[in-house]
Amino acid sequence: MKAKKFAELVAQGAVQGKRVFIRADLNVPLAENGSVADDTRIRASLPAIRMALEGGAAAVLVTSHLGRPKEGEPQAKDSLAPVAARMAELLGRPVRLVTDWVDGQFTTAPGEVVLLENCRLNVGEKKNNPELAQRIAKLADIFVHDAFGTAHRAEATTYGVFEYAPVACAGPLLVQEVEAIEKVVANPPRPLIAIVAGSKVSTKLTVLQNLAEKVDTLIVGGGILNTFLMAAGKPVGKSLVEPDLVGEAKAVQEKMAARGADVPLPEDVVVASEFRADAPATVKATEAVAADEMILDVGPQFAERIAQTIEACTGAVVWNGPLGVFEFDAFAKGTERLARAIAACPGFTLAGGGDTIAAIEKFGTADQVDYISTGGGAFLEMLEGKVLPAIEILAKRAED
Ligand code: 3PG
Repeated sequence: MKAKKFAELVAQGAVQGKRVFIRADLNVPLAENGSVADDTRIRASLPAIRMALEGGAAAVLVTSHLGRPKEGEPQAKDSLAPVAARMAELLGRPVRLVTDWVDGQFTTAPGEVVLLENCRLNVGEKKNNPELAQRIAKLADIFVHDAFGTAHRAEATTYGVFEYAPVACAGPLLVQEVEAIEKVVANPPRPLIAIVAGSKVSTKLTVLQNLAEKVDTLIVGGGILNTFLMAAGKPVGKSLVEPDLVGEAKAVQEKMAARGADVPLPEDVVVASEFRADAPATVKATEAVAADEMILDVGPQFAERIAQTIEACTGAVVWNGPLGVFEFDAFAKGTERLARAIAACPGFTLAGGGDTIAAIEKFGTADQVDYISTGGGAFLEMLEGKVLPAIEILAKRAED
């Protein structure tokens, strides 16, 4: 990744006595009682904060967005207060929450960590207002972009500030994420297998098209698979399907075939007549899906076939999206077999996306995946082959 690295500035002693501003992605799910329901992103942001403290920073100012609040209209639900509390527990030191911070009307104690309230409450944040970005860029000496999950957004704190910052650099999480994903998209080890699944082709069409130029095997699942089955002339009954994208699915198949690569389609599937956790699940040949049935998972023979391919893969595997309705146990077996195969894969394994992470958690295989991205949209956009705004501006500032 072409960028100034915060770790290098720390190693050079350049952080000593400096005010450090870190844009993190602390956009975490909250429980009904308002506490943090999943602290993965808070944990992932700690190395940058610790690095700043160990580097002797005069103060560490951290901010993030939380949700999509209305700018200029703060409500209790938009506050980063629960995040500050959890961060303080994890860091083992106080983390003070500061509101109305844009013009720097707050003081900091030496070596203090403060969390600057939800940056999306500032008017102009979403549209990357240059005036707002310039005001924020006066708050510190060194600006660290560590918000990989928001690296695909060009907002005031994710882009504009890094144009005007005295020093703009990449935080350790951002570097780690980009390098892990570049490993599979830029110069991948072979064979490269991608699993792209989820409800709709339409939301992942660009990912499918980009990966179709690169991967050796493309495994599709979920509603996406149904559209590929329809494209192959197979019956899909009343499954979730996008008939208007059959042409796109065929094009992906053809692109893969022309390169001698493969999009394996299942010989068997799991069907039900209703979308319910307790609906009776029936395994049947793909050819035999009836008009009143819906495909809710891949079948055991297919799951085994792809699992064996993955377990033999010494290159790399990238996974985004569950193969079936894994939230319902009766339709979770295909995704479970896949998760276990990825855990056993000898090659480099990379996973990302909310549903994928939920599946990995459900089957307890997180420790056996080489890299799990904290990004949702940002992870997908990198798989699409896009240059994320964060990467673009940091590369530009690396030339200063
Ligand atoms: C995410 O959760 O994917 C990121 O925090 C980005 O959030 P956004 O989609 O609201 O920009």
